[in-house]
Amino acid sequence: MRKKIVAGNWKMHKNAEQTEDLLNELIAKIPTDTDTNVIVAPTFVNLASAVDHLEFTNIKVAAQNVHQAEGGAFTGEISADMLKSVGVDIVILGHSERRAIFHETDALIANKVNTALEHDMTVIFCFGEELKDRQSANHFNVVENQLKDGLFQIEAKDWEQVVLAYEPVWAIGTGETASPEQAQEMHEFIRETVRKTYGNEVADTVSILYGGSVKPENAKEIFSKPDVDGGLIGGAALKADDFVAIVTAI
Ligand code: 13P
Repeated sequence: MRKKIVAGNWKMHKNAEQTEDLLNELIAKIPTDTDTNVIVAPTFVNLASAVDHLEFTNIKVAAQNVHQAEGGAFTGEISADMLKSVGVDIVILGHSERRAIFHETDALIANKVNTALEHDMTVIFCFGEELKDRQSANHFNVVENQLKDGLFQIEAKDWEQVVLAYEPVWAIGTGETASPEQAQEMHEFIRETVRKTYGNEVADTVSILYGGSVKPENAKEIFSKPDVDGGLIGGAALKADDFVAIVTAI
């Protein structure tokens, strides 16, 4: 059975007090008997307090990035060891905002993935095509290349620590969601791409999340598709009631 996962990527939102308030609401409202893995990714400065706050809950904490080096003269950066030392062992990598705004290449992302795995972290690996790729019917190629160039350097055994998050760039923060059929079509393609390189066991056990304007109103239909194992949620993760509704929609 594949893990069902709903993760909230808080991006650069919520100060310390707001982080605590949102976590308190989530603790109160997320059913404790859910078998869905719930993850939240607050900003770096609030990670340690989030870990403390969520200690006796079933909500896990992820970072939104990590540097590829072990340490050194990299002003403003955060290492895997630092994250682990405050109790964070999940990291989101390859997000389209990191790719587009901070110029992260597939090669750099591959490096970060390797570092995170060496530190026994779980990687939520994000990828997805831009609108122009879909309009030119190049979206499958783009997605395949992102997987091959950013992730397929890992060994089969590492897949236990990897979650895939397909996020079509045109659907992120735009209010425009991939239709459940478009999501399923791409998720199936992704799973088959994994299968060709890593075989059936990896392909059938890896969780593939959909991200891009998931809301309480569309979550159930998207999550009902056979190759969609959950969601990576942006805007709707910032409101407790919306996020909880998405968690329960699965
Ligand atoms: P939205 O849900 O706001 O579209 O963001 C998706 C996302 O980028 C999650 O990583």
